[in-house]
Amino acid sequence: MANVVVIGTQWGDEGKGKVVDLLTAHASRVVRFQGGNNAGHTLVVHGERSIFHLIPSGILYPDTRCLIGNGVVVDPEVLLEEINGLLDRGIAINPERLGLSERAHLIMPYHKAIDIAREEAKGKAKIGTTGRGIGPCYEDKVARVGVRAIDLTEPDILKEKVRANLSEKNFYLTKLFGCEPLDYQTIVERYLSLSHELSPFIVDVSTELDEAMRRKENILFEGAQGTHLDVDHGTYPFVTSSNPVAANACIGTGIGPKRLDSIVGIVKAYSTRVGAGPFVSELIDETGNYLQERGQEFGATTGRRRRCGWLDLVVVRYSARINGVSHLAITKLDVLTGMDRVNLCIAYEYQGERLENIPAKLSILSSCSPVYEEMDGWREDISGARSFGELPRNAQAYVRRIEDYVGVPACIVSVGSGREETILCENPFSDTIP
Ligand code: GDP
Ligand code: IMO
Ligand code: MG
Repeated sequence: MANVVVIGTQWGDEGKGKVVDLLTAHASRVVRFQGGNNAGHTLVVHGERSIFHLIPSGILYPDTRCLIGNGVVVDPEVLLEEINGLLDRGIAINPERLGLSERAHLIMPYHKAIDIAREEAKGKAKIGTTGRGIGPCYEDKVARVGVRAIDLTEPDILKEKVRANLSEKNFYLTKLFGCEPLDYQTIVERYLSLSHELSPFIVDVSTELDEAMRRKENILFEGAQGTHLDVDHGTYPFVTSSNPVAANACIGTGIGPKRLDSIVGIVKAYSTRVGAGPFVSELIDETGNYLQERGQEFGATTGRRRRCGWLDLVVVRYSARINGVSHLAITKLDVLTGMDRVNLCIAYEYQGERLENIPAKLSILSSCSPVYEEMDGWREDISGARSFGELPRNAQAYVRRIEDYVGVPACIVSVGSGREETILCENPFSDTIP
């Protein structure tokens, strides 16, 4: 029995969806613990691509139960769309297969309106949010005025919360941003109708996980975003509004911290970032364009072009520490195929000084330049490799250098988007840390 957490070590889009899908083969339950439909997790199974924003990436296994934890902010419209999208594909989604925590907070129409209006008002200083209302929803949670999934089952409470919130939000939207006010009746009617469809899925996730763990089942925790988008540990304020780090798997689902066994940190073989914020190893040149095109680096949620750069090991080592990463999963190694030389960022330089850790001061971080270690590339197609020994010598050396620098072994090397395009060096479910 083991409980395994999958998290992103960079700025999201590392390939968490693919790895979660792969590891689900060993789990009875997969649970999301934070974020919302700002996430876009892509799976390619038997040649068919699926993108999930809210439903955990284990859903394509017919016998695995998927859960959305209390730490997730849920747009009920998007959840219903995803459920219906799967039903249209002949994948049965019912309360046996999917559970939504009664304590999860709901994204309301005013959250989306505020997110978009604020970003527009910020102009050049904008964060580049996904516009899905994530930040404003977490704000209301902390301000203790949020609407929770369980409120869908109590119409009077739902109405009262919407009424109270809307008077404040409409004042803010109209007076500060010059937006149109939102209509109380429309919101209440829509949410009561959604309540009809979603109420059967509402469960007590914490108790369910506790019982499953007592039965010694394997549980997989699926993170969204990445460590450098973490509201505490990322490049604040260019971050999301939740904690994508592994510790939040406990808070975001209601289990104790001693129950986690392995933490798998996903590392894309190069760096990408969507939205604004510092990015030391960014390549604004032909190599950056090459990575963007070869890696098909377009946002899975907003379709935006992702900024690209060399792999930043300072970023990854920082994440290994913050998350207590026990295993690395290195993805998209195949994208580097065909390059004569590849660079790894091993330190930063700031005003002649060498930095090996990430400064909290954004003004310093934004002015750092990368210190690179150059390695030989490889030209052989690696997408058919299924064992580490089948990789070209230079590709092996690249992976070994990452492991050495970060001080954590790789359990997975991914060489293509398909489920089977994977080298599994070690199974994090069987190799549990005592
Ligand atoms: P996530 O948000 O971390 O789940 O990652 P995304 O799904 O947003 O982005 C990762 C993209 O890379 C998706 O299009 C995946 O299908 C794709 N992908 C994942 N692993 C690999 C890999 O090893 N090689 C290639 N070429 N593509 C991959
Ligand atoms: P997955 O789970 C990449 C980024 C946004 C923006 C910042 C804040 O697919 O890896 P938000 O809407 O969360 O308030 O936006 O965070 N962002 C992501 N970038 N992958 C994601 O998720 C992201 N979720 C949010 O682009 O810069
Ligand atoms: Mg993504």
